[in-house]
Amino acid sequence: MKSHFEMDESMTGRSTPDPLKFAFDQKRGAHAGGMGMAPLNAEQAELKITELLSQPATINKRRALYLHIPFCRVRCTFCSFFQYASSRKLVDHYFSLLLQEIARKSATTYAQSAPFHAVYIGGGTPTDLSAAQLKELGQVIRASFPLTPDCEMTLEGRLNRFDDAKFNGALEGGFNRFSFGVQSFNTNVRKAAKRLDDRDYVMSRLKDLNQADQAPIVIDLLFGLPYQTAEIWQQDLEDVIESQVTGVDLYQLIDLKGTPMLSQCEQGKAPPPATTEFKAGLYRMGDAFMAQHRFRQLSCSHWARDGRERSMYNNLVKEGGEILPMGAGAGGNFGGFASMQPRDIDQYEQALTDQQWPSAMLLPKAENTLKSKLVGLCDQGGIARYVIGDELYLHAQPLFQAWADNGLAQFDQHSVNFTLAGRFWQVNLCNGLLKFLEKNPLDSKIERCA
Ligand SMILES: C[S@@+](CC[C@H](N)C(=O)[O-])C[C@H]1O[C@@H](n2cnc3c(N)ncnc32)[C@H](O)[C@@H]1O
Ligand code: SF4
Repeated sequence: MKSHFEMDESMTGRSTPDPLKFAFDQKRGAHAGGMGMAPLNAEQAELKITELLSQPATINKRRALYLHIPFCRVRCTFCSFFQYASSRKLVDHYFSLLLQEIARKSATTYAQSAPFHAVYIGGGTPTDLSAAQLKELGQVIRASFPLTPDCEMTLEGRLNRFDDAKFNGALEGGFNRFSFGVQSFNTNVRKAAKRLDDRDYVMSRLKDLNQADQAPIVIDLLFGLPYQTAEIWQQDLEDVIESQVTGVDLYQLIDLKGTPMLSQCEQGKAPPPATTEFKAGLYRMGDAFMAQHRFRQLSCSHWARDGRERSMYNNLVKEGGEILPMGAGAGGNFGGFASMQPRDIDQYEQALTDQQWPSAMLLPKAENTLKSKLVGLCDQGGIARYVIGDELYLHAQPLFQAWADNGLAQFDQHSVNFTLAGRFWQVNLCNGLLKFLEKNPLDSKIERCA
């Protein structure tokens, strides 16, 4: 299509008979967006965080707490999140540091000025905390921070050693959502990826937790793992139904740089990573399976069995909500800054001992509500005209038309809806849209739509 707009294939995708497999070369990172300004130095960062935390929170902006637990019993071959091997002593010591940070951060004007809509304890493997620690952590958070009455409080982790004592401890602490990484149910795929338990254990534990009917239980599955054939993936999908979980994430295996899996491949000890074309086929199977079983699609990678699963935290992150981070390696976003806390526990401890805010990076973010909104909408698989406003919707139509021509979206005067291929490539589409707006600005009109 001819137009006076500046567009290229990185925005439109390419014209191909099979856009699901070939519209782009590969997924660009896990999330759309990007930053682009210079970080503050350590001294400036300390002053700025003090300033931000002494001010009330931005009005009308949803917000969440993120607490990071950087331990895992064993490193999985595919994972780039691994930080520390769990040991009781290290975990107990870290837990006491985290309580110190909670006490300091919760005492600030920023923390107390408005309620938080979600709390997420992520990792690593937060379920490696003891039953008593899970209970205490939940209770301390609830006692220290203002939370909305319907605050979603998620404990992430794995089923390994997650016994009834831990489950009950977490429930007594007030956790009301559990997110477990399963990755694959298949015992051979699991063993090759260094997952700790076999299919029978994972399946029976999930059934027990779901039958207790206390809280939504959601799981992560990965597609593209070594030895995970299309037949095994089909069985993984069927196992979602058998396990009775409330929700499921289907994640494409990506970001393998520096992982044990990549070195195994390089040494010929594991098969090469799955190609994008093969993973696209697995995504098609997953998408069709979930639709067939009437799971509701909450985002391009997340499905819910019923209304009990809201996925509030994930939506809030994608839509650019404020995230107050705590713990070594926690990432946040508040007061117009992106922040990252030190990954190294000694550095984290040193900062607390010195009465400083633990910070490894603080980066000003161009306050761009529209950009955050577009990232959130693309993650959910489409853009409604009334949400972004007429002017912007009409302005971006040449790009929407190119997406439609290339089989990535359908659109009419009310909305753009990503096709199966568009949902698979949603991060690329979103980055394409942001680039389109950068190259073809709507000038001050954009701010009005935001
Ligand atoms: C930070 S992990 C924590 C989950 C938990 N520790 C576990 O092992 O199940 C969160 C999720 O990231 C996903 N993940 C890890 N490595 C990945 C990779 N290379 N590509 C895509 N997703 C990945 C996995 O699905 C995992 O469940
Ligand atoms: S997948 Fe989970 S348990 Fe495995 S290394 Fe990554 S964070 Fe740790």
